[in-house]
Amino acid sequence: MERDVIIACDFKSKAELMEFLKPFKGLNPYIKIGMEMYYKEGPELVRELKRDGFKIFLDLKLHDIPNTVKAAMAKIGELGVDITNVHAEGGIEMMKAAKEGLNSTEAGKNTKLIAVTILTSINDEILHNELGIKEDLHVNDVVRKYALNAKEAGLDGVVCSALEAPIIKEIGFMSVTPGIRLLGDDVNDQKRVATPALAKENGSTYIVVGRSITKADNPVDAYNRCLKEFR
Ligand code: C5P
Repeated sequence: MERDVIIACDFKSKAELMEFLKPFKGLNPYIKIGMEMYYKEGPELVRELKRDGFKIFLDLKLHDIPNTVKAAMAKIGELGVDITNVHAEGGIEMMKAAKEGLNSTEAGKNTKLIAVTILTSINDEILHNELGIKEDLHVNDVVRKYALNAKEAGLDGVVCSALEAPIIKEIGFMSVTPGIRLLGDDVNDQKRVATPALAKENGSTYIVVGRSITKADNPVDAYNRCLKEFR
């Protein structure tokens, strides 16, 4: 599996996204399109970016009953994106249904399906006080359990923080890790963060970097710094 840096393109409009991508022409980076952009611009934007040669992680984090997720994934499959995802909290049956949905389309057979374990904005305190997880269980334990479920369901990997990447490596699975910050950058709303260098040391397969690149004075430089530290 090729290790790579994925740029989280969280912009308000297609115009802003296209402006941001201009200096990246020729570098053809892996980009992540999330809910905000997808709900505004729809599948046509994804088709256009694929035609332009970008590798795409479509981050829509599906979480519903198996039948609904399967039908939605059949639509996503037609887009031929490189990676897409569901929430592991939907359970094994839902994850299996998601894979079936993707596999029901020709293009979707090549799409990697990964499961979000615990969001990087969640920590032990939230897990216990808000989400009702027993006090003797920690983020690490839940991430491991969800990753094992995703593996059992036949998925390709998980989303977790780089701090949990060693657990994923240990079970022989792929990890896509957001919550990455270059040294000195603002942590913002993330709670479990790591630098690209630490993510590499911990065995992440892909790192997802948003604001450390998109809000940098020189985004191409920041992207290249991430690549250099991570590869
Ligand atoms: O700007 P920043 O680097 O924090 O962006 C991280 C990106 O990764 C966001 O698009 C966010 O939705 C996404 N993400 C995350 N934690 C997860 C899954 C996805 O931060 N567990």
